[in-house]
Formats: sequence, C-alpha cells, structure tokens
Amino acid sequence: MSSQIIPVEIFDYIVFGGNGDLAERKLLPALYHRDLDGQIPAGARIIGASRTALSDEDYRAFAQKALDSFVPAGDLTPTSVERFLARLHYRQVDARGDGGWAELKSLLDEAGDDRIRAFYMAVSPALFSDIASRINTLGLANERTRLVVEKPVGRDLESAKRLNALIGEHFREDQVFRIDHYLGKETVQNLMALRFANMLYEPLWNSAFVDHVQITVAESVGLEGRAGYYNTAGAMRDMVQNHILQLVCLVALEPPSAMDADALRDEKLKILRSLKRIDDSNVEHVTVRGQYRAGASNGGAVKGYLEDLGEPSSDIETFVAIKAEINNWRWAGVPFYIRTGKRLSERMSEIVVTFRPIPHSIFEGSAGHVQQNQLVMRLQPDEGVKQWLMIKDPGPGGMRLRHVPLDMTFAESFHVRNPDAYERLLMDVIRGNQTLFMRRDEVEAAWEWVDPILKAWEGRSMKPQGYTSGTWGPSSSIALIERDGRTWHEPD
Ligand code: BG6
Repeated sequence: MSSQIIPVEIFDYIVFGGNGDLAERKLLPALYHRDLDGQIPAGARIIGASRTALSDEDYRAFAQKALDSFVPAGDLTPTSVERFLARLHYRQVDARGDGGWAELKSLLDEAGDDRIRAFYMAVSPALFSDIASRINTLGLANERTRLVVEKPVGRDLESAKRLNALIGEHFREDQVFRIDHYLGKETVQNLMALRFANMLYEPLWNSAFVDHVQITVAESVGLEGRAGYYNTAGAMRDMVQNHILQLVCLVALEPPSAMDADALRDEKLKILRSLKRIDDSNVEHVTVRGQYRAGASNGGAVKGYLEDLGEPSSDIETFVAIKAEINNWRWAGVPFYIRTGKRLSERMSEIVVTFRPIPHSIFEGSAGHVQQNQLVMRLQPDEGVKQWLMIKDPGPGGMRLRHVPLDMTFAESFHVRNPDAYERLLMDVIRGNQTLFMRRDEVEAAWEWVDPILKAWEGRSMKPQGYTSGTWGPSSSIALIERDGRTWHEPD
C-alpha cells in the first residue's frame, strides 16, 4: 500500500501536552504509523512541550513506551522505531509564564523559518489562549503556522464564543484546526462516498423514503482515569455536542457543491441550525440521562460511577439518549434517535438508516413478515456497511421471505489495516486541508442546540437515572423509541 502514499511537506509538529495521555495513546502512535508508511519527509520533527522537566532522551523513552503499548508489535521494526525516535525533541515550557519559550523558539529557528509549524494543543482548554498568544507574541509563528485545537471547545455557547474569540485574536480561521476525531474515522468518510459517489441512495435519502435514523456510540469502558475532566463534562458535552452531532450532520446534509472545506461545512451548519429546539417544554419527553451503577463489563465485575469517581454524589450523566428532529424539507417528520454512554453492553458505534415499510404486500402471510430495509454503517469495531434487503429463501417449498444483508466488512473486503482517525487528521493539518475539522460557527451552532437542553435538565432537576453496567442504558431509553413504535437496532 505504501507505494500510493504521497509524502507531505516538511514540518515541525509541536505538541503542547506532549507527555500527556492523548500524545501517548493517539498522537505519537499515529505519527509513527505515518512515518512507517513513508509519509513523513526526512528532517521533519516532532517536539513535545509541557511543564514537566524532561530531556530529549527522556522524551524518546516516553515515546518508546507509548509505541510499545499502543502500536501492534508486528508494526514495530527496530529501524523504523529508531528513525521515528530520532525525530523527537522536547522542551520544558510554562504555558502561563515565559519560561522555556526562548528555548523552544531557538529549536524551531534551527530548522529555518520556511517549514510548516503545526502547534497541537493537547492540553486543558484553560491554557489554549495563553499558549496561542505566546506563540504569536514571542515570535514562534511563521507564515505557515497552523494551530490544532482538541475538544472540548468550551463548555457552553458563551465559553465557546469566548475561546474562539481569544484564538481568533492570534490566528486566522484558515490556520485553526478544531479536531473532532470522529470525522477522521474510515466509515464516516465512507458515508460521504456512499451518499455522493453512488446514484442509488440519494433519491431515497429523504422523508418520503426514510422512516427514521439511529446513531449509537456505545462504549464498554468507564472513566479510564479521566474522572476530573469527565465529572465536569458528562456525556452531553463529551460526546453529543461534538462527535454525535457531527454524525447527524453528515447523514443529513444536502450535497455540497464540492468536497471542499467550506462547501461541506456550510451544509453542516445548515443542519445544526435546523435542529428542532429542545428546552424546558419538551426535554422530559425527548431526552434521557443515565449514570452507570455497578455491574459487569468485559467479563468482570465493575464499580458504579460514584465509586469510580470516589465521591458520594454526582449529577453528571454517563449516558444520553435523545429523539432529535431536523426542521427542513428533506427531514421533516423523520426522527434521529441518538444515544451514547459509558459502561454499556459492548463497544459499538453505528449509524442505522431504516427505510419506510413497503406500501402494500402482495405476499401471503405464510411468506413471512416483510421487514423494512435498513442500511447499517458500522463505525467500530468491524468497520463496514450492511444493506439489509428482503430476498426469497432459496429452494422449493413456496415463497418464504428472509431479511439478509449485503455485507461489506472493510477489513475482509480490502485486507488493509484500518488506520486510526488521528493518522488522517494529523496529516490533513500539514496538508492545510480543513474539510474534516470544525469551523468556528459550527462549534457555536452545536452549542446553541445543546445549551437549552443542559439548562432544562438543570432547571427541572432532571437527575440521571441509574443503569446497570453492561446493559444498554436506563429503561427509559428503550421507552423513548418504543413509544414511537420502533426499537433500537440490535447489533448482530
Ligand atoms: C473522546 C471522549 O472524544 O472520544 C471519550 O472524550 C471517548 O470520552 C472517546 O471515550 C471515544 O472515542 P473512540 O474513537 O474510542 O470511539
């Protein structure tokens, strides 16, 4: 495969929070894989920065451990690991003071002023504006600087606007890359291909033919050492405001005029602005909040949220289900049921489009029930697409109908490794391609929909309902969809 890979231009990636969890689990392994595939040019560097005192050698040892833990052993060869580690450097930098910045600047200047400088904020959002302003005022930015911002961008509309404005004081919007790693996932990309590179679906992709859409992002893990952050966020801010709303947009948007950053983001913005408002008047009817209790996960007993947190009480939700609606011509009357949660039955994310029932059956009752067609796009695990159709059961014995999938499991069909979303996104930053990144107005529009829900929960003291770890969430989530005569799609 590597013969098809086009190297990117030479760059310095400067990772603030370079020795943190994200760098360890995602960024360093992703950059290693791109290097392994020959995409990173000779001389390109990765520079870790944080307030911890580390030498270059310490940082390489940290990276070596990260690769050992998060890259499959078969992909680690001594030569490629050595080449990758040699690209790494580290500078101790104080985000809130001037300490270390001169040293970082002189390291950058050693390589000249004309290479791409990508500054990655893998730090708490509280530090974004301090770092952004120092990059500029202390002369670290050059003509080819890009700024990569991890979520969460704010914790409500007001703080998001404030943060965007602060970043905007130092960087042009075309230099800012707000990451939502769901947009880099293979199946999410494929959704675009499926919709806009085929004639088959687009004519059916509207309220005349689609009955409803379901989006599930289920995790079996709990807090994973992120209690401090998670207990200020909850599932709504952590998953719905960004990842899930992005998926809703990609399913629902109008065909953009081109696969171009602004054309695509203009269409996503229209969807976000068309979402039917949920507030105090309807919140109890169309939303569900849950919090996991003790139970079983991955074959072992697990604790409840409060025990994981080590606190006697918390009103933070670890599960959300919502019946969302889009008020536009294409989607009026088509519910989008979304749900996400931690400590659910299994790790499974999928988008399911269920088409309307046939208007009239010509078959006798003995043929069996004619089920509705479904298109199931599986994001993880086992990425792939299944189109469920009715066919005749083969053989004599009269007409018997069966619901079967046309199955395209990517790993089986293409025999390739499925790259992590960060691999694509990190290289898109270098390529200067913002298509898969969130624009400022998009982030703010998403908060505009989310804020009234959060406020209504608070105003009504709508506390999360307990659910047993290892299940599919609170029973009211099942009621949410069954009230409409529908059921959550059972993963097969
Ligand atoms: C992150 C959230 O953005 O996405 C995490 O902060 C969550 O809480 C993660 O676990 C899920 O990502 P993925 O790619 O494993 O589905």
